[in-house]
Amino acid sequence: MQGIKPASHPYLLELVTMSLANKNILLGISGGIAAYKSAELVRELVRDNASVRVVMTRSAKEFITPLTFQALSGNPVLTDEFEQSESANGMDHIAMARWADAILIAPASANTIAKLTHGGADDLLSTTCLASKAPIALAPAMNQAMWANSATQDNVEILSKRGLLFFGPAAGSQACGDVGEGRMFEPHQLLLSLSNLFNTGELTGINVMVTAGPTREPIDPVRYISNHSSGRMGYAIAEAAHDAGANVQLISGPVSLAAPEDIEYISVSTAQEMFDAVQADIETQQIFISCAAVADYRPVAKQPEKIKKLHDGLTVEMVRNPDIIAEVAKLKSKPFVVGFAAETRELKKYALQKLERKRLDMIAGNDVSDTNIGFDSPENALEVFWAGGHCSLERDTKTKIARRLIGLIAERYANTDKRSNVTVLKNAKDRSQNTR
Ligand code: C5P
Repeated sequence: MQGIKPASHPYLLELVTMSLANKNILLGISGGIAAYKSAELVRELVRDNASVRVVMTRSAKEFITPLTFQALSGNPVLTDEFEQSESANGMDHIAMARWADAILIAPASANTIAKLTHGGADDLLSTTCLASKAPIALAPAMNQAMWANSATQDNVEILSKRGLLFFGPAAGSQACGDVGEGRMFEPHQLLLSLSNLFNTGELTGINVMVTAGPTREPIDPVRYISNHSSGRMGYAIAEAAHDAGANVQLISGPVSLAAPEDIEYISVSTAQEMFDAVQADIETQQIFISCAAVADYRPVAKQPEKIKKLHDGLTVEMVRNPDIIAEVAKLKSKPFVVGFAAETRELKKYALQKLERKRLDMIAGNDVSDTNIGFDSPENALEVFWAGGHCSLERDTKTKIARRLIGLIAERYANTDKRSNVTVLKNAKDRSQNTR
């Protein structure tokens, strides 16, 4: 069977914890006694900071109640396409299909496997699978004779050829008293297999520095100048690079997001602090991705006391901040440099100008005139340019856009001359102790 082999080494289990954080996992439950094990799986996923939504088939509800999964996932459980919709346009399956970073059906019954093979869409789970571009994994659970039946085996072969993944089944004693292949993988094995889905390995061992969020330029002790930026795109990029196997350093301005636990994290406030943090370690980096919305100007001096509103007008004298990315691109032995261009019009023209002027290797332009994407939205769309090439990353969640951008960066980076003087980072975990 072509299922992913479970690993038992504790270090690998630790990796699971790291790579499922902030992932949107859609867990499908079909009818089988193994459904009780999926309750533990949801607990583990939530413990690993994944967002979990559960969809149950009608027969799954005969084995375990939706309430159990609702309590454990912290989200309402969806059980039927025709129940009251929670999305505004009444298209739950589409909303779920787009939301999911990965779909895992555990337990996957012989019936569900057969239904997926034939593209059936007569309930919410099968409809969502058909509508989703996310990777789909199945954890089969059934009687050994049902699993061995050539009807099931043929279905498994067809689905495998289509790119669906099979986690298990395992062999052993079964609830029905039989012994053989057909037991569902244990929750920790499923967790490990699921995390492997996100480890693309495209940037294994590469040092990647990412800047994210806004910078704050103080006017006085209570006021500051800043830019719109939630930091979500930069954080998603840092996580995608980490999933791709890179040693990631995330330098972040003030945002309300939690620092990713498994990534070296440096918190800064002003553009000058961000510049200093970048310069301190840029010589060791092979790729630099500047996603931060850096303030171009700062007040000449921060007033020591709060400025009183004594006059109708106020003039604050400003001075240019260092252009962090341009300074990196000027380095004699520069890393592969990726910039962002947030524009409200003529995106292509300004992005290409920036690519050339700042001597970047790649630029990702986003049209921030569309208020539904970009800045504070969970979604984005990017137009990516490099010398002689272009790629449109169509609207999607920031997590998925980030993963596709990292794929593009890895591809372009593989085609360029690598910087020669890079030394491997020290243990990222050790260093992050001092910088949190
Ligand atoms: O010049 P502009 O701000 O439009 O360029 C955007 C790109 O430059 C982004 O990648 C941003 O992170 C970076 N940048 C920078 N330092 C600045 C201003 C922008 O690194 N002072």
